[in-house]
Amino acid sequence: MTNGYHSFLGLAFMSLCLIQSVSTSDVYIVYLGLKDVQDHILTSNYHLNLLSGVFQRKEDAKQSMVYSYKQSFSGFSAKINSTQAATLAEMEGVVSVFKSRILRLHTTRSWDFMGLNLNPTADKSNPLQLTHGDNTIVGIFDTGIWPESKSFHEEPNMHPIPRTWKGKCVSGQNFNPKKACNLKLIGARYYLEGYEQEHGTLNTSETTEYRSPRDAIGHGTHTASIAVGSTVKTASFFGFGQGTARGGAPRARLAVYKVCWEDGKCSEADILAAFDDAISDGVDVISASFGSPPPLLPFYNSSTVIGSFHAMQKGISVIFSAGNNGPDPSVVQNVAPWSTCVGASSIDRNFPTRILVDNSLFVTGESFNTELIEAKLVVARRYFRGGICKMDKWRNKSATGAVILCFSIQGPVEIEDAEVAVWLANATGLIFVNSPTRQYVEVDIIPTIRIDMIQGTKLNNYLSQSITNQTKVRIFPSKTVIKQSPAPVVADFSSRGPSSISPDILKPDISAPGISILAAWPPGISPTSTDIDERSVEWNFQSGTSMSCPHVSGVVALLKSVHPDWSPAAIKSAMMTTAYKTDINRDTILSGGTNEESSPFDIGAGHLNPLKAMDPGLVYDTKADDYILFLCNNGYTKDQIKRITGTTVTCPKEHTTNANLNYPSITVFSLQSTMTIKRTVRNVGYKKTSIYFASIVSPNGVEVTVWPRILCFSYFSDESSYYVTLKPQKLSQGRYDYGEIVWSDGYHTVRSPLVVCVDTATLASAVDDQYSEALDQPVAGA
Ligand SMILES: *[C@@H]1O[C@H](CO)[C@@H](O)[C@H](O)[C@H]1NC(C)=O
Ligand SMILES: *[C@@H]1O[C@H](CO)[C@@H](O)[C@H](O)[C@H]1NC(C)=O
Ligand SMILES: *[C@@H]1O[C@H](CO)[C@@H](O)[C@H](O)[C@H]1NC(C)=O
Ligand SMILES: *[C@@H]1O[C@H](CO)[C@@H](O)[C@H](O)[C@H]1NC(C)=O
Ligand SMILES: *[C@@H]1O[C@H](CO)[C@@H](O)[C@H](O)[C@H]1NC(C)=O
Ligand SMILES: *[C@@H]1O[C@H](CO)[C@@H](O)[C@H](O)[C@H]1NC(C)=O
Repeated sequence: MTNGYHSFLGLAFMSLCLIQSVSTSDVYIVYLGLKDVQDHILTSNYHLNLLSGVFQRKEDAKQSMVYSYKQSFSGFSAKINSTQAATLAEMEGVVSVFKSRILRLHTTRSWDFMGLNLNPTADKSNPLQLTHGDNTIVGIFDTGIWPESKSFHEEPNMHPIPRTWKGKCVSGQNFNPKKACNLKLIGARYYLEGYEQEHGTLNTSETTEYRSPRDAIGHGTHTASIAVGSTVKTASFFGFGQGTARGGAPRARLAVYKVCWEDGKCSEADILAAFDDAISDGVDVISASFGSPPPLLPFYNSSTVIGSFHAMQKGISVIFSAGNNGPDPSVVQNVAPWSTCVGASSIDRNFPTRILVDNSLFVTGESFNTELIEAKLVVARRYFRGGICKMDKWRNKSATGAVILCFSIQGPVEIEDAEVAVWLANATGLIFVNSPTRQYVEVDIIPTIRIDMIQGTKLNNYLSQSITNQTKVRIFPSKTVIKQSPAPVVADFSSRGPSSISPDILKPDISAPGISILAAWPPGISPTSTDIDERSVEWNFQSGTSMSCPHVSGVVALLKSVHPDWSPAAIKSAMMTTAYKTDINRDTILSGGTNEESSPFDIGAGHLNPLKAMDPGLVYDTKADDYILFLCNNGYTKDQIKRITGTTVTCPKEHTTNANLNYPSITVFSLQSTMTIKRTVRNVGYKKTSIYFASIVSPNGVEVTVWPRILCFSYFSDESSYYVTLKPQKLSQGRYDYGEIVWSDGYHTVRSPLVVCVDTATLASAVDDQYSEALDQPVAGA
């Protein structure tokens, strides 16, 4: 226990130490644009020559070089100081120079990660019975892979590896490609240079890490099995969530790109190297469950934005997680319009856990409790004033033999803090009282039952009336129940829109399951990722947008295999326009964190509906040129746009609204007067001749007209445009209202969210006057 104690604290404090290590040189990415890279050796030499220009000796330049990117675009990363970066930026041929940042995995906590609904009875709509996906390759950018997991064994009768595949399965520490790779896991690479430049050489004897594609954290194994895990019968976590495990596209091929290391840190220099390889390796989908919380950098300073742009140009769909910074508005990450951004929501499965107090009072919570617990029940404030369940407040008080009742509101305190506090006090268990909108089960370091405020208040008042310390509590093993409503509910932690950098494109795009998801786990890593936990499991529950992202990636793999000619934009459109707006009871999906009806800023177009996405009827397609126009309208200069696209572009003289980007959702973030927006749809339905009718739900205070109201498609014309006119009908200084535009041919329903912020009130001048008056006042004491 003592050992465990120290290493557990070490985990928490390590990140502090790393932040303090300041060095004058940093890893910078030097981007040379989209060059037609013919000769890799020549290109590498060219990179080195450029870099040598800022060093006295060529040897020093060689030393500082981190990567030379030469497969899919041209550039390099190097460890240099700010003067050298500025000099390089001025050199001929250099498009941009920016610092490589460290991005973070999108899990809800450091020791509790994500999962997948592997229970076939709860997931009948999964279309994998219909398609095979043998011919699609999903690239997972994450913490690597545990290749021995049954999720990565071959499915029966798999075809040979697609001939388009040019990737590699590389060898490394505890990773023998001959044993690890097969017809399922067809590629595995790892990228460490950028990480090591920032954090020093990885010492694999000091910590559990592998200089290889092997996963030492569990996150990458979990996300990969969510997206493409093979079918495995009888998966469960100690009996919970028992059923057949399988990814969204169980026959799709897996290519692993390990870019995230200890503490879930992922260097942008490494990520860009993975994009460079994955694009030329020939993946069809890239799934990346990491990001950097706001403030968001401009698009031209982000390697994920640049990498995903080049991927999109090659027809590769890039799927990102939205982040776990919810439920406050405007914190969504990964917002570029050419990638897909995924929020997280619950599924219809609960783990009810009964608590009996003194044989007289029953309450029910949720947990993964495996055994009958009999103990005394004590409220935290019995131990010290205030009852704040935090380690530093507890001060060595022993709680042996007790189950402790803690309130999140007292402190306030996070459940992880409370678990550590009562674990250190040697308690038997924890009953944690939390807001009902923030309840979801996770794997815990100590038996922990989550209950809501009403039940918690009952327990608290019962304990206040008892004068002795002898209240007995019995906690029964948890059960797995399905078909529980409301479901789905948006996770409170799921990052919400609007995008803080381009509010005229709705983000997130879509939501998918990301709460208490069961998926593959490396047996060498405890399910809580802590040393104090000695359990070994093959399957683990995790929560986060990290888990919802690969759900979408798996479905994209299926869509790609059914519709190989669809662009990433068409695939995204198919998923968005067919997404569920309602839950299993046909009520509007709730938003966790507020318990009110969700808005498009919570779930984008809605909750992923894989079967419908196969046959959306119409799609909104977008080309690279449309995205360049988007960047122009966003106010970026030609030079700044070149830093993203790598090519010289021309912008029209006048900026127009980005509401005209042919996106499957419509957002006008400042409607000051009547405006008209254009959209173009393509008929991808089975019937070439079809007629679609529009129906409209107008946002509050906006008159919406669609023209024409009828769209006809035939053998000769599979594309049609329509116009949406928005007329403000109220005085407002900006608040978002929501509506929708739906096209239907009687069979297909093609729904687009319509988000409008009316900004008509001309009170601005009055505000200005007040402001200038204030400026005119003499300043006291000046
Ligand atoms: C950056 O490195 C160069 C070459 O080593 C050196 O001449 C220069 O003084 C350094 N500048 C800073 C700001 O450290
Ligand atoms: C973009 O990156 C460059 C190089 O690191 C930096 O000088 C510039 O300030 C960054 N721009 C923004 C707006 O962050
Ligand atoms: C790694 O850590 C071990 C144990 O602390 C130490 O003995 C060894 O010298 C370290 N290796 C490197 C390369 O730092
Ligand atoms: C807890 O106990 C340890 C060992 O007895 C002691 O060193 C430490 O100061 C105590 N901490 C507090 C907060 O009382
Ligand atoms: C908890 O138990 C361990 C091992 O028996 C002991 O060393 C430690 O002092 C106990 N802690 C408290 C707060 O009682
Ligand atoms: C109840 O337990 C607490 C903590 O062990 C102790 O401080 C308190 O004196 C006890 N009260 C009674 C009435 O036994």
